[in-house]
Amino acid sequence: MCGIVGFIGKRQAAPILLDGLSKLEYRGYDSAGLAVRDGEELAQVVKAKGRLSNLIEKTDGGKALKGTCGIGHTRWATHGEPSQTNAHPHVSGNCTRSGSGTVESEVVGVHNGIIENYTELKEKLLKHGYTFYSQTDTEVVIKLVDYYYKKYNLGPIDAIAKTMVRVRGSYALELMFRDYPGEIWVARKDSPMIIGIADGETYVASDVPAILKYTRNVYYIGNLEFARLVPGEAHFYDLNGDEIEKQTTEIKWDAEAAEKGGFEHFMMKEIHEQPKAVQDTLNSVIKDGAIDLSSVEITEDEIKNFEQIYIVACGSAWHVGMAAQYVLEDIVDIPVRVELASEFRYRKMPLNQKALVIVVSQSGETADTLAALRLAKEKGIITMAIVNVVGSSIAREADKVFYTLAGPEISVATTKAYSAQLAAMYCLAVQFAKVRGKITEEQYSYYISELLTLPEKMQKALEDKERIQWFAAKYANSHDVFFVGRGIDYAVGLEGSLKLKEISYIHSEAYAAGELKHGTISLIEQGTLVIGVLTQNELYEKTISNMLECKSRGAYLMGLTTYGKYEIEDQVNFTVYVPKMDEHFIGSLAVIPLQLLGYYVSVAKGLDVDKPRNLAKSVTVE
Ligand code: F6R
Repeated sequence: MCGIVGFIGKRQAAPILLDGLSKLEYRGYDSAGLAVRDGEELAQVVKAKGRLSNLIEKTDGGKALKGTCGIGHTRWATHGEPSQTNAHPHVSGNCTRSGSGTVESEVVGVHNGIIENYTELKEKLLKHGYTFYSQTDTEVVIKLVDYYYKKYNLGPIDAIAKTMVRVRGSYALELMFRDYPGEIWVARKDSPMIIGIADGETYVASDVPAILKYTRNVYYIGNLEFARLVPGEAHFYDLNGDEIEKQTTEIKWDAEAAEKGGFEHFMMKEIHEQPKAVQDTLNSVIKDGAIDLSSVEITEDEIKNFEQIYIVACGSAWHVGMAAQYVLEDIVDIPVRVELASEFRYRKMPLNQKALVIVVSQSGETADTLAALRLAKEKGIITMAIVNVVGSSIAREADKVFYTLAGPEISVATTKAYSAQLAAMYCLAVQFAKVRGKITEEQYSYYISELLTLPEKMQKALEDKERIQWFAAKYANSHDVFFVGRGIDYAVGLEGSLKLKEISYIHSEAYAAGELKHGTISLIEQGTLVIGVLTQNELYEKTISNMLECKSRGAYLMGLTTYGKYEIEDQVNFTVYVPKMDEHFIGSLAVIPLQLLGYYVSVAKGLDVDKPRNLAKSVTVE
C-alpha cells in the first residue's frame, strides 16, 4: 500500500530518502513526507499532499533538510483522506495542524499496513490525554509507542515490544526516538520491509528497487521482529526483547532492471521484457529437454499423490490460475479449483487433504493470498508459491517455492509477472502430466519444445503495436467494453479486461462467451466494442456466433486470433493476429495485444499509466 524508506549513515539523508521514495512511488502516491535529524537536533518533518514531486520541490530536492538520519514515506490512503495532515511521518506529541516543522515529540514514525484495533487504542490514548491531529491509524500506533515508552521508562526495546503485543493488523513501522539520536527503530508484521547494509551505512525500504543502487546486501526482518539500526549495523529482537542473530542475503536483481530504460512508461518496458521473463522462468526448470523441479523441492511421490489442486490468488494472479486450470485439467487430468484468495480465506469449504494449494503472487506480500496460504498450511495441506519477489513473506512461508524470474515489476498493472507466472504453471502442468503417466514421452518432448518457442513468438506478438495503437486511439472514448471467449480465451479476456479498466478507467467486463445471452447482452448498443478472443480452434465457431449476435445489435467487433484464420476478416470489424502454437499455451501470446490495447488507451487519454488512481502495486491490506 504505502512505501517506507530509511537511511542512517555518513551522507545527508534527505536526498537518499527522496531517491528511494521515487522508486517506491508505485506503492502509493497521494502524499509523501520525510523526518530527518541532524545529530542531537530535533527531527525536522516535512510533508506534502500529492505526488512525490511536491515534496521534492518543498524540500529543494532534500537540501532543505540537514541530517544523516531519517525516515520517509509515500502514502496510499487507507484511513483518512489524502491530505498533508494525514501524510506521514506522524509524531507522538503536539504538532501543528499540518504536522510539518521541527518536532519536539518523543517519537516520530512512518508506517505501512493497517492497524485493525486502532479505534479501541485511540480511545484508550484519548483518555490518557493524547491529542490526535490526523485520521490515520498510524498516529495511533506512534502514540501508543510513546505511551509505553513514558509509562515504563524502560527504553525503545520495551516500548516497541509492548506496542507490538497490543496492536492487531499489519505493519512495517519505522521510528525515531528523541532520546536516541543516530538510531532508527523498525518493526514488522505482515508488511514488507528490508534492511540494507553497505559501507558503514544502513538503509530501510519496503521493496528492493529503493535501495538497489546503494547495496545488494539485505536483511529480511521476520514477522513480529523488530530492530535497532545504527550506521552500518542492524540488531534484531524478538517480542521478548531477546536479540536474534541474522545473516544478510545478496539480492541478484540488476539495478538497470528497475529503471525505465528508454521507454516512456514502466508498463511498456515491462510488456517488452515479457519474452525474457518467460525465457528466464522456463530456463530455470527446463534442462536438457526435460523439466527439473528440484529447485521447487517437490518430489515425484508428492506429485503422484495429489488428488486435487487449488489455485489461490488475487487479481491478475488469479487470472493466471483461471488460464492454468484449463491446461492442468486437460493434460494432467486432475480436478482444479481456482479461488480468489479473499474468498478462500473466509470460506468454510471442505478441503481435500491430499491436495496441493498453489498460491500465485508477484509481490509475495498480498495480504489475502498470504492469509490463504497460512490457512492451507494450518489445515495440513501441502502448499506451493509461484512468486516473483525473493524473500517475500509468501516465498518464506510456502512449503515449496517456484520463483518466477520476471525481475522487479514497477508498473502497478502487472504484465511480465503475469506472463512469467503462466509459464511456471505450464511447466508444472507438463511435468505433473509426465510423472502421473498422463502423457507419452513424445508428447512430453513436444510440449517442452513448444514451450521453448514461447519467448520468440511473444516477441513476434509485440510487433503489431502500431495497428493496436491506432485502434486504441479510435476507441479511447468508449464507455463500456466487453471481452468474450471460451475456456483459455475466457481467462485471457479476464486479464485483457482488467488491464483496460485499471489503467484507462473505461468500464469493461469479461464474459464466458456463452453467458452473454443470459443477461449481459442487453447492455450492447450501437457502437459498443466487443473484443472476442478466438485462439481455440474447437471453440472458434461458438464464440464467433456469440460475437455476431452482438454485432446484429450494433456492436463493433474486434477479433483476436491466430495467423491463418483469415476467414475472420469477413465476420469482425478489426482483427489482431498472434502466432500459432500449441493451444494450451497460446494464452501467453493472446494477452499481449490486450496489454498493448490497455496501455495505448491509457496513453491516448493522457492518464498516468504506471500509477493508476486508487491502486497500489502491493496490496498488503485486506
Ligand atoms: C493487476 C494487478 C493486480 C495483482 C494483484 C495480486 O494488474 O497487478 O490485480 O495481480 O493485486 O498481486 P500479487 O501478484 O502481488 O499478489
